[in-house]
Amino acid sequence: MDMKRRIADLAGEMLKKAFPEAEGLPEDLYPLLEVPPDSAMGDYAFPCFKLSRALRLGPPVIARKLAEALTDGAVARVECAGGYLNFFFNRENFARDLLSAVLAAPEKWGGSDEGRGKTVCVEYSSINIAKRFHLGHLSTTVIGNSLRRIYDFLGWKTVSINYLGDWGTQFGKMLCAYKKWGDKETVEKGGVDEMTRLYVRFNEEAKENPALEDEGRAWFKKIEDGDPEAMEIFQWFKDVTLRDAMKVYDVLDVHFDSYDGESVMAKRTGAVIRELEEKGLLKDSDGAKIVDLEPWGMPPCLILKSDGATLYHTRDVAAAIYRKETYHFDRSLYVVAYQQDLHFRQLFKVLELMGYDWAAQCSHVAFGMVSYEGQAMATRTGHVVLLDELLTRAQEKALEIIKEKSPGLENKEEAARQVGVGAVVYATLQNNRIKDIDFWWDRALNFDGETGPYVQYTHARCRSVLRKAPEGLPVPDYAALTDDEAQALLRLLSRFPEAVSEACLRNEPYLVTRATTEIAKAYNKFYYEHRILDDDPGAAAARVQLTRACAEVIKTGLYLIGLAAPERM
Ligand code: ARG
Repeated sequence: MDMKRRIADLAGEMLKKAFPEAEGLPEDLYPLLEVPPDSAMGDYAFPCFKLSRALRLGPPVIARKLAEALTDGAVARVECAGGYLNFFFNRENFARDLLSAVLAAPEKWGGSDEGRGKTVCVEYSSINIAKRFHLGHLSTTVIGNSLRRIYDFLGWKTVSINYLGDWGTQFGKMLCAYKKWGDKETVEKGGVDEMTRLYVRFNEEAKENPALEDEGRAWFKKIEDGDPEAMEIFQWFKDVTLRDAMKVYDVLDVHFDSYDGESVMAKRTGAVIRELEEKGLLKDSDGAKIVDLEPWGMPPCLILKSDGATLYHTRDVAAAIYRKETYHFDRSLYVVAYQQDLHFRQLFKVLELMGYDWAAQCSHVAFGMVSYEGQAMATRTGHVVLLDELLTRAQEKALEIIKEKSPGLENKEEAARQVGVGAVVYATLQNNRIKDIDFWWDRALNFDGETGPYVQYTHARCRSVLRKAPEGLPVPDYAALTDDEAQALLRLLSRFPEAVSEACLRNEPYLVTRATTEIAKAYNKFYYEHRILDDDPGAAAARVQLTRACAEVIKTGLYLIGLAAPERM
């Protein structure tokens, strides 16, 4: 039920019929079809000037000849407009065909098996141990989760990876501080905050007593060597950090297949360094080892410090190879802030220089910054907004609004949870990734704007119409769906699958956000202009079908960007 496909095939037949002898014509007209700027000009337009050269005729003549060769009026009628041939769907048939296609497998509309047999690794969230989970990690978590769902929906095998930041000398210092001044209970209770306090204290005391630094290093060495005591404490620090993060993941309904982070990759850096050496890629630079990237206009990639310590890059090289060997990916995505752009360009270049042609399958899925009510996030100045606090606030605020708007609703807390979280997630996926986000409560929670709650509310509205629909409606009369509002809505539903596949191709969840929001807006317009439960049962049946299709597609769209679709609000 790809209307563009059908129009392209129809246009192809017409072309053959009109110009049976012509040579050098395109095989498939699909890529040439355009969507007219205004739907009054047709559903699709064929630009005839694209054939002028092959046919040696002016575009208006081609348009006229094609129009005369119309082969299937049940699909569309045509009109010539200058050099364009405009196709108008046969509205009644379009409504019938589209709704039966959507409702044949409603939860699958927009899905496909285009990714069958292919694997994608999606790395996202990638939090750091002993650091707070703040608003800065919202985008990666939410974009990655959405991409995973979109790829899944298109038949890919997905591997979601939380590449934990769990390696570095700071952990030696933290352990050292814990042994000196910490205790189990305080860390259990204080969590990440307590670990940070220990770390800060370490640095302060080390100013007075530099010998501490050596002790800290010794503890890191113990971690590197897998000393049982060090490992036990370190593992516990990780568990405590993850326990907090899990609360956020649960609320967001985000999951991971792997938590293999930097410490796992640190064990594999020896092999990486040997390989780089063998391939003649390592250069000495003041005792350190680097890969020279000057010919590509980039600073060198640091592999080994002069003291023998490995670096962020070294572990990332190991991680990339590990993912290829373990998952045999066809694509490998890194959902990481734009600031790390250079890091990833260097990484992919090094992989390429190592002879891995699959470096081309790796992409940095970058995103912009998040600020909060006009204020940038800055850890230094202490202006940090914690993700769990933000989500809790969102739920509280949503609850207030729901209490006011729908006092009779049962289970308001559950709806508030879905709506509050939805408002935050939607705001994150509303625009293309690279655009900076400024998060404002009144904007995100506005039930009338382009927001998560608005789309969710439209879904609930559809469900409410469906609950009210009488049983045993007759066969739908699709002539009732030939008005502009119903047709606009049908058109958007028919294009939803394109939006999903485009979102996958460009790793841009917002394309799904936008398509879903457009459907919600068009439904509301339709809803205000027409009586859905019409006195004419055939018309009512058709409008109920359209409502059902909308509800299902909106639900899918919401799911794909990580939002729940409440039945009632
Ligand atoms: N943990 C890092 C951070 O929070 C992000 C990790 C990015 N992923 C990677 N493969 N380097 O900044």
